Amino acid sequence: NGANEVADIASGLRVLVTAGPTHEAIDPIRYIANRSSGKQGYAIAAAFAQSGAQVTLVSGPTSLPAPEDVARIHVTTAEEMLYACRQVGSVDIAVCVAAVADWRLETSSAHKLKKGDDERLQLSLVKNPDILAMISQPGPSRPSLVIGFAAETDDIQQNAAQKRTQKNCDWIVANGVDAQNAPFGQDDNTVTIIDETSTETWPGLPKKEIAARLVQRAVKTVRSRTSH
Ligand code: CTP
Ligand code: CA
Repeated sequence: NGANEVADIASGLRVLVTAGPTHEAIDPIRYIANRSSGKQGYAIAAAFAQSGAQVTLVSGPTSLPAPEDVARIHVTTAEEMLYACRQVGSVDIAVCVAAVADWRLETSSAHKLKKGDDERLQLSLVKNPDILAMISQPGPSRPSLVIGFAAETDDIQQNAAQKRTQKNCDWIVANGVDAQNAPFGQDDNTVTIIDETSTETWPGLPKKEIAARLVQRAVKTVRSRTSH
């Protein structure tokens, strides 16, 4: 019937979604984190699964339950997230929604850092691997569609478009994170989808609705690019 046709538009497709923040240890008690709740990534994983796709969700620490019919892999750090994504193997669609920490401690301490007498503390940080750029590398196992997300505060569309070409992904989904318009932990968001030829804004939608629309658009694109 008609309902099942809609429900199964993604059947036969393998999908990887990264979501949530990563935590980078400073010492056994403290870590570097960010404001990602994981809601948008989880909603996208759920929407793909509801559409019949085979979904793996590589998730940083969140308080969200795993969506139905989604295989979730828990990770903590960016390096663990990269490793888990490699283990997933080839997929048709990859959606990198995770707010991966850009930096980690050069060496995290095995012991609690004591406050001591010094008025300053210097931490030495090194850059984390870029998971989206890794997945987007050209090659036989590159997903046919790779989607990145970009949270920006200034020149949202220009920065996002630049990220799309730098990281070699197919689409960037941009959202503004100004104080008035911060999506973190909220249920609604305004996003702009940037692909090679077009820019399209979806204003003020629930994250679940954004997920549903993104799935429709992604499946349509992949089906037209490949034979399945
Ligand atoms: N991303 C990733 N691995 C990283 C950093 C980012 O996979 N180490 C992905 C995010 O999941 C997102 C996209 O890259 O899909 C853009 O993330 P963003 O933080 O906006 O971009 P950066 O390249 O880190 O640039 P900056 O934070 O300096 O703006
Ligand atoms: Ca970043």
